[in-house]
Amino acid sequence: CGIVGYVGNSSRKAAGHSALDVVVEGLRRLEYRGYDSAGVAVVADGTISSRKKSGKLSNLISELEANPIPESLTGIGHTRWATHGGPTDRNAHPHLSDGGRLAVIHNGIIENFAELKQELLGKGVTFESETDTEVAAALLGDIFRTQLNDGGGSLTEAMRLACQRLEGAFTLLAVHADQPDVVVAARRNSPLVVGLGEGENFLGSDVSGFIDYTRRAVELGQDQIVTITAESVEITDFFGAPAEGKEYHVDWDPASAEKGGFNSFMEKEIHDQPDAVAQTLLGRSDLDGKLTLDELRIDPELLKQVNKIIVLACGTAAYAGLVAKYAIENWCRIPTEVELAHEFRYRDPIVDSNTLVVSISQSGETMDTLMAVRYAREQGAKTISICNTNGSTIPRESDAVLYTHAGPEIAVASTKAFLAQITAAYLLGLYLAQLRGNIFSGQIKDVLADLSKIPAKIQHILDNAGPLRELARSMKDEKSVLFLGRHVGYPVALEGALKLKEIAYIHAEGFAAGELKHGPIALIDDGQPVFVVVPSPRGRDSLHSKVVSNIQEVRARGARTLVIAEEGDESVKDYAEQVFYVPETPTLLMPLLTTVPLQIFAAELAGAKGYDVDQPRNLAKSVTVE
Ligand code: G6P
Repeated sequence: CGIVGYVGNSSRKAAGHSALDVVVEGLRRLEYRGYDSAGVAVVADGTISSRKKSGKLSNLISELEANPIPESLTGIGHTRWATHGGPTDRNAHPHLSDGGRLAVIHNGIIENFAELKQELLGKGVTFESETDTEVAAALLGDIFRTQLNDGGGSLTEAMRLACQRLEGAFTLLAVHADQPDVVVAARRNSPLVVGLGEGENFLGSDVSGFIDYTRRAVELGQDQIVTITAESVEITDFFGAPAEGKEYHVDWDPASAEKGGFNSFMEKEIHDQPDAVAQTLLGRSDLDGKLTLDELRIDPELLKQVNKIIVLACGTAAYAGLVAKYAIENWCRIPTEVELAHEFRYRDPIVDSNTLVVSISQSGETMDTLMAVRYAREQGAKTISICNTNGSTIPRESDAVLYTHAGPEIAVASTKAFLAQITAAYLLGLYLAQLRGNIFSGQIKDVLADLSKIPAKIQHILDNAGPLRELARSMKDEKSVLFLGRHVGYPVALEGALKLKEIAYIHAEGFAAGELKHGPIALIDDGQPVFVVVPSPRGRDSLHSKVVSNIQEVRARGARTLVIAEEGDESVKDYAEQVFYVPETPTLLMPLLTTVPLQIFAAELAGAKGYDVDQPRNLAKSVTVE
């Protein structure tokens, strides 16, 4: 979900910054986070005016045109991704209380909402929606009106008292008609940033919410309350003790958050990949092939003692983790497990102080991953975060962080972040190997040299994707596509299938090619399209020939075989309906290349179906609920 808050003074308004415009513009910038309804509230003329609509922001904008709300200096806005209660107009935020004089928006989940609701019902409060947010609004309204009851009331004080009663993860923003110049916000385990302006201040779930207006941002800590007016920003903890936020400069170029001539952000981000990999490699090794991960502020002696690595992530990031497993075990000889973060802490995992937990997350806010990292830390594990978002929660709560430098990823389906995550995981693996003396420095130097050639090779794939795009368009009516791979080609197959599910809504499965004979081969029927990711013939001999046999097996049963192979590999030609070649590279690094055709395929096919490639149905970019 996305959250925006704004307070400006009258000269800002005269300069064109009406609260409504600023808030709606902020919501537009935050659309990439994924949502299913949107709403705004402003304070003007001693009352709250609010509008909300299910569906896209354009629905809300039409509603605002049909039913305008007054000009104002103070406003809040929200894009919702349904958790409690379906995506309806009524369940959309803001939620009002205190006789319509208080408006609240919320991101996250209030875990004890049922209990609080009972209590409030007992006091005669009535509810219009099924949401946990309305309970938070009612609680805040009740405290403001009846418990403070000093006429003037302080929204900030009411927020503090309310937060002391709330359990779960939340960002809350509130405005009250009695305090027209103030927005009060609270944060626990859910993102919130402050934007500092001249005669105006902002709140956003991330800096995109106000990037058009200011570059000065303040990061809030956990369990903090912030009160903004046009001229001031005041931060305290939930009990009123003053707190300091950390100010930083936002160096994102807003243009880099625009589509740059492509039809979709996803297409643009696929084309950003040479740069995403290059940036992630940049400055992390010297000319002698020695890795210098100085930013990885974790005692090397501790890393030497690590006897087990657990990689935790969700979705695409988890597939990057699977690639990491092959590389890290090969280079470091440390047993490495990969686990979906949401499964991890519920199965009593074996973790101790010699365990290194590596979390991978583009957003750094995925709640499942955050909770798993917290659990691992509690068990004494060392935690390293591979993350694309500076200052986000997971890196802040980890012992150390290795940032991927992919730049902002806007499309919900991850592409450039995935390649950057794999790149960072390779660097981490090489660094551990260097530290522990597992492989000769000469070998590290060779891998780094191979990595440095990857960006140009990705570019080559992008420049020669015509036939692949044509194939994708011709397949827009397919009902099911299968993906096979082996070794590091296996996670690539999984990711290829995931991309197609996510954006083209086509049934797709990725399989380890060796598993075919144990079940999935029964799915093969006349004309069934099967992508096969073939390892380099220059690598381990048996690996390549086994996959070539797998192509033959599915072809013999009528499959259309669509093969991704290394340039010069003639052996696949006889069994492939079509071959898409990628440049030569060592087997372990191949996912950085073989993934790219599958991303292009999915994006082109979804585009041909007329779907919104960047914002697929039912999905959110950053899933900040468990
Ligand atoms: C969501 C997104 C996926 C993403 C996953 C993990 O489900 O839709 O594209 O892979 O979250 O996100 P993270 O930000 O932790 O990498």
